[in-house]
Formats: sequence, structure tokens, C-alpha cells
Amino acid sequence: MKDRILVVANRLPVAIQVTERSFHFQPSPGGLASALSALNDSYELQWIGWPGEVDLSMIQPEIISSELKKEYNATAVFLTRRQLNRYYFGFSNRVLWPVLHYLPTHIDYDEKDYRVYREVNRVFADRIVQELREGRTDDIVWVHDYQLMLVPSMVREQIPEARIGFFLHTPFPSSEMFRALPYREELLKGLLGANLIGFQTHSGLRHFRSSLLHILGIDSEINRIEREDHSVQIGAFPISVDPKKIDASMSEPDFEEDLRIVRQIKKGRKMILSVDRLDYTKGIPERLSAYKKFLERNPEKAAEVVLVQVAVPSRTKIPDYRHLKDQVEVIVMDIVETHETLPDSPIQFMYRSLPFRRLAAFYQEADVALVTPYFDGMNLVAKEYVSVKKDHGVLILSELAGAASELGEAIIINPWNRDQISDALETALELGQDECTRRMSAMYERVCRNNVHYWSRSFLDDLIRSAEEFADRRSPVTMLTVARRQQLKEEFAASKERLLLLDYDGTLAELQTLPLAAAPDQELRDIMERLVALPDTSVAIVTGRKRQEIQDWMGRYPVIISAEHGLWIRMVDGDWDRQIPDSQEIEWLQAVEDIFEQFNLKTPGSFTEKKEAALAWHYRLSDPTFGKWQARELVMHLKNVLSGARLDVLDGKAVVEVRVQGVHKGNIIPYLQMQGKSFDFYLAAGDDTTDEHLFQAIPEGGWTIKIGAGYTHAHHRLNGVRDFRSLLKFICEFNP
Ligand code: UDP
Ligand code: G6P
Repeated sequence: MKDRILVVANRLPVAIQVTERSFHFQPSPGGLASALSALNDSYELQWIGWPGEVDLSMIQPEIISSELKKEYNATAVFLTRRQLNRYYFGFSNRVLWPVLHYLPTHIDYDEKDYRVYREVNRVFADRIVQELREGRTDDIVWVHDYQLMLVPSMVREQIPEARIGFFLHTPFPSSEMFRALPYREELLKGLLGANLIGFQTHSGLRHFRSSLLHILGIDSEINRIEREDHSVQIGAFPISVDPKKIDASMSEPDFEEDLRIVRQIKKGRKMILSVDRLDYTKGIPERLSAYKKFLERNPEKAAEVVLVQVAVPSRTKIPDYRHLKDQVEVIVMDIVETHETLPDSPIQFMYRSLPFRRLAAFYQEADVALVTPYFDGMNLVAKEYVSVKKDHGVLILSELAGAASELGEAIIINPWNRDQISDALETALELGQDECTRRMSAMYERVCRNNVHYWSRSFLDDLIRSAEEFADRRSPVTMLTVARRQQLKEEFAASKERLLLLDYDGTLAELQTLPLAAAPDQELRDIMERLVALPDTSVAIVTGRKRQEIQDWMGRYPVIISAEHGLWIRMVDGDWDRQIPDSQEIEWLQAVEDIFEQFNLKTPGSFTEKKEAALAWHYRLSDPTFGKWQARELVMHLKNVLSGARLDVLDGKAVVEVRVQGVHKGNIIPYLQMQGKSFDFYLAAGDDTTDEHLFQAIPEGGWTIKIGAGYTHAHHRLNGVRDFRSLLKFICEFNP
């Protein structure tokens, strides 16, 4: 049985067309709909989306719904006029679309629009949840594009174990641009509900990571982000076309008729082809002006070439789109009038959407494809042209289209540079057959290999894998229940040599605003007395604190101590043993201290704590929001300044710490082995990210306990210091 995927996109692959007496469906515009239709062969697709504008007073929604279900396995999400105007024409297309394409002058923001954007995202999420609850547990949810950025988290909140992927079809802009968005925090958090977030290109992925850091202070690895309760995988998956399907449409008998119609327009001339939705991101005015320039420079060509511009009507209710149409028509008219003495105009402007087979006939007949968007997530037109031409024709392609990172044999241009576009047209029309073949075949081979099936398969494989990993990681972290405690005690009793590794702050003692206020209270002192009296049991305090401080508090007990995150280790009654050579860090320490000082000056309540080979910048006394904001700036600054230095920058709980690489709390395990110690029972407990190193170092079968919330490598969790102390008391009851 095929896997079922809930494909969730603002638009269904078909849009409704209502005529006076009846209605029918026709393919939706845009690359998203064409790319996803290719998934039908491999998966059972259940679509969820908007069926296009429909006057519900003319036709009952139930009728449309049942027809969509029957014919296309699609669930319609109807939008009211208000929702359509504010969510779709408003926030999605008048705010997000221009920002994602680096064209902020087209932003037209109304605050109410965002509220409705959120509301409609909720409608989509609820519909998904309903489908999931009624469907099979192994369904996959694949959410598409910028109109639905909040949906992944909205679904995750309701179904924590859901398998959710998100793919952004547009570019993801640099963090400076993304920061311009109102509610950018909520939008990013919305995406983080997914198991996998896919982008068209590596630069989109890089920009996304940088936005996470700048806006949410979330650090990420190259392909994943660790969240408190799950990890999110991220990747670049360039979308593509289906060359076989394209070939098949060109083998249909009626294709000859399409070719005949196109040749009537071509009239034996060389044909340059541009195909776009009429969108201000597509670079149409610059392109047409460049063509005009080309004709001025090469007047003899006006009778020998024709530029066919197919412009698909799009988002026509938005003033900027209407304005663009006027602007484009003026340029077209100008070219037409300049050459009106010619029997045939060197430009043909077609303001309409063509069925794919007709479009394929245009591709087939086009000597040159001119694709010049200012910015484009991918641009499928470029790939479709390559797929049709195979080993001839020339592609001129904007360096700012996602497709440029794969189609390097095209003539690459800057879409704002009219001279360059005009030059490229000259080159393209003169290019020798062998050179055309060399370039086009290389691109064709690549498009065939990285086709749309490869795109969807690699995305879905990664999604399934990251969801499995997520499930694996969720299950081992269980609360340390009473039954489990019993098992722990039994294992403790059955073992011969035990080791308890205990973090101090947040584990043995409550976190305090001032570090020195966390000195052991009576209860803790009693627990320590009893713990160290247990037979065949070693106790180690594993802390980030300075060695003198922890020595003062814990030195009175016969315990092993690891201080400053593993920099110093001291056996019972032994001397402090330093874990790295002395000289390395003197210089950087001073530099970091200076930076910390600058942040102390501008962040009221913050202060620097000096350790022997580490420095901590604390902001727990500062305003929490401002402190966090400053901490993010500090972390980013330090990462830049210290790149190449063998230092770790740790973003902890209300503290930023810089310390020598490779020194961490997990060091104590190999250290004890080197001292000839061996144990058959391990228990490690800690509350902070720095304790994760310790958990990871514990041998298989050991007990690892995370105190409090948050993502962890530990197998068990307890709510807080109180619960942990009670566990220790329970262990102290052991009586051999
Ligand atoms: N398209 C079409 N008929 C037309 C013009 C375009 O079917 O008259 C299709 C085209 O085949 C392509 C998609 O629309 O698959 C456009 O995708 P692209 O990625 O180039 O741009 P988008 O519209 O998604 O921004
Ligand atoms: C681009 C967007 C899609 C959108 C399509 C058509 O490809 O990435 O999400 O569906 O344009 O735009 P429209 O506003 O008509 O859905």
C-alpha cells in the first residue's frame, strides 16, 4: 500500500471555475502546483487547500467538496471574503511575498492582516488534525510555502507525535531582510514545529539559520536544530520537473496542432521565449527594456527575431500587480510602435495562462529562453525549457533564480543589468550548434537526474528519518516513576562498585540569583553525610563552579570533585589536577574579559565571573528580555571574534560562558578510568546543557537523570531539586 501524504498548500492543484450554470476545475497557476502533481504516481495524496475564489451564493460548498474529493482526493478549505483579502491578498502576498523576495518597497502592511493570517493557518491546522485523527497513524503531513508558516507548530501542539514536513518554495532572504517582518518570531517558531524544514537552495538554508540565531537566539548545526522537546532537521532540496511526463505530453497526437499554432506566431523567425506569472519578482520590465535595447543596437534583427512573452494573470486584486501590467504594456507598446513598419511585430505579449502542452510547443520552438527574475525560489520554467530542448537551444538565466545554482551552463546574467541582458541575447543568437549542444546536454542530464521525483523522494526520506529519530528520542526520556526508582535501588544493591555523579546548581541545590547564595542548606548537608557513608559508593560533585567555591562547600565530605566544567578534577583527599596545559588561554581570556566588560556597561544587572580558565557573563539580575537580547548579540559577536580559537562559547541559563574546547563535564569518566577506578553502577544527574556531556559519557546501562524540562540525552527526568533530593534520600535508605 502506498504511504498516504496529506499535502497541504494554500492552493489545491486545481482551481474552480464557476460559469452561469455549472462549474469545472482547471489546473492552478504556479510552480508549486505543477511540481506536486508529479507525486501522484508514488504516493496516495490527500490534498488540503483552497479551491480558488468562488461565489458561494452561486454554488453550494458541499457540491464542490464532494466533487473535489471524488475527482482529486482533495479537501477544500473555503475562505471567506474577509479571510481571502487579509490572509491571502494581505499578509501572504503584500507582506511575506515581497520580503521573501527582497522587494520591501512592495510591502503594504495592515496589522489586522496578520491576525487573519494566524486565524486561517489555524483553520488549516485544525483540518489537518481532523484528517490525522480519522486517518492512519503513519500518515505524513507535508505543508507547503509561505502562506502556511504557522501550521507546523499548530499541528504539533495538538498531535505531538505527528510527522510534519515543511517546504518553502520561495527564497529565504538574509536575516536583515527577514527581520523587517512584523511577527517574525512567531513565524520562525511556527516552522520549528516541523520535523524537517526544506529550502530550495543552500543559501536559503544558511539565511534561515542566521535568522534563527539573530531573532530567536537559537543556534543550529548545519542540518539540524535542537529544540527543547525535539530536534528539527533542515536541508536544501531544489525542486524540479518531471522530464518523462513532459516527453509524454509532447507525444500526444494533438501536440502537432500546438506546434502548428506556435509556428504561425514564429513565422520562420528566431524565437526568444519568456514565460512568467505576471509578478513583480520576475524582472519583466527590465527584460523587455533590455530587449528594446538589443533591437536598438541590432536594428537588422527586428525582422529576424520575435520575443514571445507569456504573462499569466496573477493576484490581480493587488494594486502593485495591476500597476505592473500597465507598466509592461507601455514597454510592449513602445516596442510595437517603434517597429510598426515591419510586417510582423518583433514582440508578442500574451496575457493568459496556457495549457502545458501548448507551453511545451513554445519551448520546443524557442531558440532562446529568457528567464530573468529579480529573485525566484527556483523557476521551473527554466528547467522545463531544458527538459524539452535536451540538446539544442540556449537558456539565458538570472543569477538570482534558485535554478542558477544547478544550471551553470546557461548564459548567466544580472536581471538589473540591461546591457548584460542585451549582450546575452546577441551571444545566444550567434552561439554555434556544438556549443549549444554541449551546454544544453549537460543541463539536461542534470535535470533528468535531479528530477521532481528525486526531489520529493529525498525530502520524504529525510522527513521519515528525522521523524523516526524524533520518536526514538522521545521514548527513552521517561519520568523516574516509583516503579523505576525501585528498579534503580535493586540495581544499586546488586552492584559492587558504585559511582554517583552529581551536578550542584539546579540539581543538588536550587538555582539562586546570586551564585554564592546557593551554599548547602541543612537538608543537603544531611543527604551528603548519608550518601558518603554508603558502602562501596563513590560520590563525585561535577560542577561548573570555581574549584575554591565548591571545595569550601563540599570539601568537608570524602567526595571526588570536578570543577569548572571538567577543567579541574580532585580525587578524595587528592590534589587538584588540571586537565589542559597552562599557557593556552591567557591572551584570549583578556580579550573576552574586555568584551564582557562592554556588555556589562550596556546591560544593567549583568556581571562577569572570572574562573581560572573560563569566563562567565551572568545576566540573571537583568531584565530577562533585554538580557536575552544582549546575550544573543554577545554570543554572535564572540563566535565571530573567536572563530579559529580553541574555545567554546556556551549559551546557558542566564549565562554566557567561554571556555577551552574539549574540556567538559564528561571528562571525569576517562579520568577516573585512568586512575584505575572501575564501576558497575553509574548514576549521573544534572539540569543544564553543560550536563549533557556527562550524560553522553556514561557507559551503557548507567542511570542518567535530567532535572527539569528541556531536551536531553538522559534517559530519565525528574521535575526539580526537591524530587531529586527525595530520590537521594531513597537511595540512602539502602542497607546492605
Ligand atoms: N505555466 C503553465 N502555463 C502557463 C505558464 C506557466 O502551466 O501559461 C506553469 C509552468 O509550466 C511552470 C509554472 O507554471 O511549471 C511556473 O513555475 P515557476 O517556478 O517558473 O514560477 P512560479 O509561478 O511558481 O513563481
Ligand atoms: C508561487 C508560490 C506558490 C503559489 C504560486 C501561484 O509559485 O510559491 O505558493 O501558489 O506562486 O501564486 P498564487 O498566489 O496564484 O497561488
